[in-house]
Amino acid sequence: MKILVVGSGAREHTICWKIAQSEKVDKIYCAPGNAGIAQVAECVDIKAEDVKKIVDFAQQEKIDITVIGPEAPLVEGLADLLNEKGLKAFGPVKKGAVLEGSKAYSKDFMKKYNVPTAKYETYTNTEKALEGLIDFDVPVVVKADGLAAGKGVLICQTQKEAQDAVKSIMEDKQFGDAGNSIVIEEFLDGIETSLLCFVNGKDIIPMESARDYKKAFDNDQGLNTGGMGCFSPNPIYTKQLNEYIKTKILDTTLEGFKGENIDFRGVLFIGLMIKNNEAKVLEYNVRFGDPETEVVLPRLKSDLVEIIEKTIDGTLKEEDLMWKDEKSVTVILASGGYPVKYEKGKIITGLEEVDKDIIVFHGGTKHDKNNILTNGGRVLAVTALGKTIKEARNKVYDNVKKINFEKKQFRTDIAKL
Ligand code: AMP
Ligand code: GLY
Repeated sequence: MKILVVGSGAREHTICWKIAQSEKVDKIYCAPGNAGIAQVAECVDIKAEDVKKIVDFAQQEKIDITVIGPEAPLVEGLADLLNEKGLKAFGPVKKGAVLEGSKAYSKDFMKKYNVPTAKYETYTNTEKALEGLIDFDVPVVVKADGLAAGKGVLICQTQKEAQDAVKSIMEDKQFGDAGNSIVIEEFLDGIETSLLCFVNGKDIIPMESARDYKKAFDNDQGLNTGGMGCFSPNPIYTKQLNEYIKTKILDTTLEGFKGENIDFRGVLFIGLMIKNNEAKVLEYNVRFGDPETEVVLPRLKSDLVEIIEKTIDGTLKEEDLMWKDEKSVTVILASGGYPVKYEKGKIITGLEEVDKDIIVFHGGTKHDKNNILTNGGRVLAVTALGKTIKEARNKVYDNVKKINFEKKQFRTDIAKL
């Protein structure tokens, strides 16, 4: 079987690494990939957003399944285009991807189908938004409607801050056209958890839970990032909570898919805020999470390719997912200055010195002659499994010391429970 993975981050490296363990696979391509992905797949020089070229490549190479990593090509309709050519895609069609592509749409969807979520209003006009703000207590959350690489959410402590956020998103276009509309939302208090689920067109089958660290610096200081570290499972995910999530969130979401005629085949990532064994949905994403994938897939015993096939043909069942008892932790090594301004092209050293049982997934890296260079904000995801979260955590941090590049930046408090 020939598989094409679309994307170039540590998430896609993890997907390729896991797919490479399947006996069903003869060849893995990745577009565009990175220096780490090149160890397990043939990298093809096509950008993830270049949906037309990806379809052409998949047709030419007779790819059996295209696994779409990032949200942008999904929102562009890559799965639809592949399906039109009779090719299989793992990832939802455009009609499903809009759940991530538009926060206003996804909030309306949640409201319509009674999925618990924060109270909100949507605006397309700055003056109306500024007027509407007054009805919200502070802190209040201001969100750009469209895609903004995980950075379009501003948590505002005062009305003044919120007014500035509205202006900067809607007038100054801080996040470009993503800010043509905004969602203003009640601030929710609690502990976050990420729940990735396989959706096979008619069932939602959750994977093991994970906890992401979104802020740039220790003790949740600094700006929101794509994610600076993660662990799995999340101990907050109790049996009682599981029941609540199943009936109040998964079943209602599924009803929504049916009600809106969304034929979803891929991964639905539900961002949840937990308090008192109850949960509210912060957001839907329509793909694997990054860095959630780096802790969830290493714990998966089952063959990912088989799961992907069954997800696409609608036969996947909960029993198909077998998990290791071991826990996992990943720490992201980022370029100094991320998520704002950072340099690329720094030589990475020490990669061959890490312990054998550590997995280093590459995010932003590239080859240059004999060196591996930094090539993005989030450079590497250093992952370990252990009997306990603490053991996995200690292993990761022992090894993080061995890998170096100029201005390496990372959090020291990931999985510190
Ligand atoms: P989102 O992209 O909507 O998940 O938002 C990114 C991050 O902002 C979330 O993971 C939360 O940390 C935070 N956030 C979003 N919405 C809220 C909310 N209503 N209350 C508190 N925090 C939020
Ligand atoms: N870790 C958050 C995301 O993938 O959106």
